[in-house]
Amino acid sequence: MPLCYEEIVSHGSLGDPAEGLRRLVLRGSAAATARPGQFLHVRVSDRLEPLLRRPLSIAAIDRAREEVTVLYRVRGRGTEALAQRQPGERLDVLGPLGNGFSLPEKGELWLVAGGIGIFPLYALAQAGLARGLEVRLFWGGESRGFLESAGLGQWSDLRIPLHLSTMDGSLGDKGAVTVPLGGYLKLNQTGPAKESQAARRGRSAEEARAAGSRRSAPGVEATEAEAAGVEALEAEVAGVESAGGKRSAGGCPAGQPPRDLSWAVCGPRGMMQAVAELGVARGFRVEVSLEERMACGVGACLGCCVTVRDERGRRSKRKVCQDGPVFPGREVVWDVTE
Ligand SMILES: Cc1cc2nc3c(=O)[nH]c(=O)nc-3n(C[C@H](O)[C@H](O)[C@H](O)COP(=O)(O)OP(=O)(O)OC[C@H]3O[C@@H](n4cnc5c(N)ncnc54)[C@H](O)[C@@H]3O)c2cc1C
Ligand code: FES
Repeated sequence: MPLCYEEIVSHGSLGDPAEGLRRLVLRGSAAATARPGQFLHVRVSDRLEPLLRRPLSIAAIDRAREEVTVLYRVRGRGTEALAQRQPGERLDVLGPLGNGFSLPEKGELWLVAGGIGIFPLYALAQAGLARGLEVRLFWGGESRGFLESAGLGQWSDLRIPLHLSTMDGSLGDKGAVTVPLGGYLKLNQTGPAKESQAARRGRSAEEARAAGSRRSAPGVEATEAEAAGVEALEAEVAGVESAGGKRSAGGCPAGQPPRDLSWAVCGPRGMMQAVAELGVARGFRVEVSLEERMACGVGACLGCCVTVRDERGRRSKRKVCQDGPVFPGREVVWDVTE
């Protein structure tokens, strides 16, 4: 079990403090083996309470400096206690744990994030670009303020196409991330490979900002908006399919094998389900990073099990901490939670 005591190099607010997001940089042995999509199981306090560790994804890896970065939102007792920890202190950490995302050898990598589901995807974007993949981000959040606080500037610096949405319409499309994703699939029904140069012409963050600044709308409940986004997505795609007179497979005309396109998805469960079902139906390789409450984090307590099915439809249980948190989207049985 990889137990280590990482030194806190820096720890503070990420973006606007009102958003409750924090950035924690740790130096120690975790960086040597960390992979995008893996997580650290952090003992947040030296006190007995809270007793259980909290799982937090590895957001960035700097092997040369022996540093990993963790980004988190203060939610409850665990993250509140973690937020009190100071630079120079040592943090008791298990990890890196879990399997992480797989990195395709070639082709395109679409990252699809909802809210703070963006955090584990940055390290993956960096690894994908280093490998020469065409990387594209679809990201939906609550508001422009949230996206900017959660690292939009850093993503813009990667100079990859960004497709943004906000629930309140203050930046990018209005609604969940499924809105720009559905729109993009519809726009590119002749095949994303064909428009891979258009990738470079894709909407930049600046254009999205400008679009966002022209829109304003009252806030909506995330769940409702997400549902609306999913419905819109289904409608969009249905429109594409019927317009073509055949199933277009989101860019792959019927009968053609899918191109080298992989999706890495992280965010709220409903959003991941909608996105995964869409990508899987079109033959793309889809990986989702699942979130379950965790106790031990190392496969001993069975507290984090999810249901999966194999190619013949046989169901079985898998541990998110050990077998995941990343699973092939086609394997996850979404309607079973216990
Ligand atoms: C593999 C993995 C990676 C994660 N990576 C990150 C990350 O990079 N950044 C980040 O901010 N968060 C991440 N999380 C979620 C994070 O672990 C929880 O938000 C955190 O444990 C909350 O702890 P807390 O003590 O502050 O909240 P608690 O007091 O324990 O709970 C506060 C509220 O959040 C809910 N909650 C807590 N944990 C979860 C969970 N895992 N899933 C759904 N609801 C939950 C509770 O039901 C409660 O309503 C990750 C979770 C997993 C499983
Ligand atoms: S958290 Fe104990 S088995 Fe996964």
